Amino acid sequence: MKNHDLVEKNIGLMSVLIVVAISFGALVEIVPQFFSPETTQPIEGLKPLPALALEGRDIYIREGCHVCHTQMIRPLRAEVERYGHYSVAGESVYEHPFLWGSKRTGPDLARVGQRYSDEWQRAHLYDPRSVVPLSNMPAFPWLFDNKLSGDDTGKKMAALRSVGVPYTDEDIAGAKAAVQGRTEIDALVVYLQQLGTLLTHKR
Ligand code: HEC
Repeated sequence: MKNHDLVEKNIGLMSVLIVVAISFGALVEIVPQFFSPETTQPIEGLKPLPALALEGRDIYIREGCHVCHTQMIRPLRAEVERYGHYSVAGESVYEHPFLWGSKRTGPDLARVGQRYSDEWQRAHLYDPRSVVPLSNMPAFPWLFDNKLSGDDTGKKMAALRSVGVPYTDEDIAGAKAAVQGRTEIDALVVYLQQLGTLLTHKR
């Protein structure tokens, strides 16, 4: 009883012990995830993004596409019927940072790859209203003028390799040649067209 008196009369000590007690609840939920193959292993066939698609992903981030679009299909019937197979953790293991998001001004893009033609994607990004008359998505015409130098692409791959993305030396050596002179829109469309295509989706 003596020890308990101590805790009850000392608010500082009690606060610390409350935090410890709550932390245990959180740890029991979170820690096993780090060791579960379901959340840490890539799904079958997952490969690191090729050089041009990797540049496309960076353009996607730079232009703030992720501010209006999620890449996370929840395992709910309405979502799966609209967008396709729900997202699984093994699809995102090479994503640094991940682009799951939580704000949907536009539709989820986790499985938009191959849903439209390259021509549709280009027309839509040049002027969304030309293909979706009531769209309130902004236009991104400068992507058609800006050219990529590829100077940093290999360095980006090397940085990703240091956090576990399995790029090979050949990938890194060939990165500049794969990117140099291409336009930003080429890169972005290549990135969009591979999104989520490893797991099948309806439509
Ligand atoms: C201000 C919010 C906003 C931003 C920023 C934005 N979008 Fe959109 N996007 C929308 C809305 C709204 C729609 C639905 C209307 C339409 O299809 O244009 C949409 C639709 C789309 C679609 C069609 C999806 C489908 O399943 O029909 C694609 C692909 C897309 N956006 C890609 C992008 C890319 C790539 C970027 C960044 C370069 C971007 N969006 C930036 C709001 C946004």
